[in-house]
Amino acid sequence: MSKLEEIKTKLAAYGQDHLIAFVGELSDSERESLLTRLETLDLELAKKLYEGRNDISTGDDKIEPMAYVDRLKLSDEENAKYIAIGEEILKAGKFASVTMAGGQGTRLGHSGPKGTYMVEVGETKSLFEITCETLKRAYVKYNAYIPWYIMTSRENNDDTVKFFETNNYFGYPKEYVAFFKQGELPMIGETGKILLETKSMVREAADGHGGIFEAMNKNDIVKDMKSRGIEWIFIGGIDNILLNIVDPLFIGMAKDAGVKAASKTIVKANPAEKVGVFCKRNGRPSVIEYSEISEEMANLRDENGELLYGESHILCNLFNIDALELIGHEKLPYHAAHKKSNYIAEDGSEFVPEAPNAYKFEAFIFDAFSKVEDMLLLRSLREHEFAPIKNKEGVDSPETAVALYKAHWNV
Ligand code: UTP
Repeated sequence: MSKLEEIKTKLAAYGQDHLIAFVGELSDSERESLLTRLETLDLELAKKLYEGRNDISTGDDKIEPMAYVDRLKLSDEENAKYIAIGEEILKAGKFASVTMAGGQGTRLGHSGPKGTYMVEVGETKSLFEITCETLKRAYVKYNAYIPWYIMTSRENNDDTVKFFETNNYFGYPKEYVAFFKQGELPMIGETGKILLETKSMVREAADGHGGIFEAMNKNDIVKDMKSRGIEWIFIGGIDNILLNIVDPLFIGMAKDAGVKAASKTIVKANPAEKVGVFCKRNGRPSVIEYSEISEEMANLRDENGELLYGESHILCNLFNIDALELIGHEKLPYHAAHKKSNYIAEDGSEFVPEAPNAYKFEAFIFDAFSKVEDMLLLRSLREHEFAPIKNKEGVDSPETAVALYKAHWNV
């Protein structure tokens, strides 16, 4: 059987033969590239993703509040002790930072990688440059360069690398910067058909920030970290301009607590705020999403009047290298998002939807927390740690984030 015949048979078995409908119209190179992709496309996984698209929590999970430490309540002695432990790790070059910059930034609507978005913070700087400044400050303080790994996607990798080249890596030594691409999953239409982006290309999209663990292992990033003697790894997003990547207190506390993962939290602004909050789920660390928490649970308070489920997850996470290795070999669940997506219709024309018409599948980083036995949660102050840029305007927009940044840095 020819390669084409083999692929046809495989596709037909899964009702996906439309993917090859236009093969006769393609150039040799287009045909080759389509067949190469289809050969390895995991149709069984696609079927499972589609069938599980509406799966929601069974509600049988045992949810309990999770303990946290409030950094404002630490004594001077505790502060000094943890900072000393953290600084030792930083000075010894045992710390690395990973920036997740593979997202599409759909809500912001910036054309280009989100990290290339410019904001006026005294001077006009890109989100990548703002992130890099934290690392440069750390070098001045600890006399050790922090390796900086940047997760991109197929869609934005080349533009990201070019931006770094054009900007001379913002003055950071190039040998301490590495890019790696996250994985992708096919987008699937309402009836279970995988979508075509063009006649020769399957429509695929980044597999969510939870894809980071698999991507780090596949791209030998964990191996590279080990060869550099890295023990602690900070993982954060690109869109929080107050993200404090290098925090010796946080690192020192995680090490002292003997945990394999830690997260900085901020208190939920009010019970209805749309953020995920930490909890223990069946005895393991977890995040309960805002869509999952009942109003009653969201309003529960302890004897001091604090929300029992009030520690918000803000993508400010620290992992021990052992945890990264472990999680990289585990499967995280995929969550389906209903989105608008253009695709090539049966008659060969491009269909442009006016309403959501397709499913995108994403893994979430916080689904990895249950893979470790326990985590340290360090409650920190919102105004010191959290100025996200998500939307073009209004809440969590460049305007609100810049105001928070300026107030914090006094610029
Ligand atoms: P968000 O979930 O806010 O997504 O990402 P986004 O892509 O920035 O924006 P929208 O939802 O399309 O509007 C939080 C962080 O996780 C990264 C983003 O780049 C951002 O730093 N991320 C998200 C990835 O690296 N990969 C993904 O697949 C998704």
